[in-house]
Amino acid sequence: MIISLIVAVAQNGVIGKSSGEMSWHVSEEFKHFKDTTKGYPVIMGRKTFETLGKPLKDRLNIVLTKNPDYKTKFDDVLIFISLDEAINFCKEKKYEKIFIIGGAEIYKLAIPLVDEMIISRMKFDAEGDVHFPAFDESNWKKEKIMDKELFEVYLYRRN
Ligand SMILES: NC(=O)c1ccc[n+]([C@@H]2O[C@H](COP(=O)([O-])OP(=O)(O)OC[C@H]3O[C@@H](n4cnc5c(N)ncnc54)[C@H](OP(=O)(O)O)[C@@H]3O)[C@@H](O)[C@H]2O)c1
Repeated sequence: MIISLIVAVAQNGVIGKSSGEMSWHVSEEFKHFKDTTKGYPVIMGRKTFETLGKPLKDRLNIVLTKNPDYKTKFDDVLIFISLDEAINFCKEKKYEKIFIIGGAEIYKLAIPLVDEMIISRMKFDAEGDVHFPAFDESNWKKEKIMDKELFEVYLYRRN
């Protein structure tokens, strides 16, 4: 099973606002996210899930929380209290690929575990106080896979 991480990062490292508000709206980048993850399980932190407001359609939504009593009104959303448990569940179900979709707390846990990262580098600075965690680029091979007016997409594979 391939464990992939997908993120969009502004030039100044911002990925969002802790208030839950979006830092930018670039529909072409969101389309890239939807097209890439469609059909695969997506694993996200409880805060990102609540920011979305509803599950992403056409894919299994898995939410991580440390609160064992956490409930959502959406029956088809799975809740796990650790990233390892969520990944093991997906392995048992024999998914070919899964995506870690944020936010910052979950990216930080996941970077040491993922096989690849699909990083949209937005061509602008953004307002916000949530940042993508620093990682050592020398451990990764980087390939540009998309170049658009407002963003470029890079595929990082572990060396
Ligand atoms: N630009 C992008 O590509 C992108 C993608 C995704 C999100 N975002 C942005 O990122 C922001 C949210 O990021 P965030 O870092 O604040 O929150 P987050 O990572 O989405 O969620 C954090 C929550 O995850 C749970 N959690 C953390 N560590 C855990 C662990 N070890 N085991 C189980 N559960 C754990 C906790 O939930 P409990 O508090 O319930 O215990 C924690 O409060 C938002 O602004 C969002 O818009 C941006």
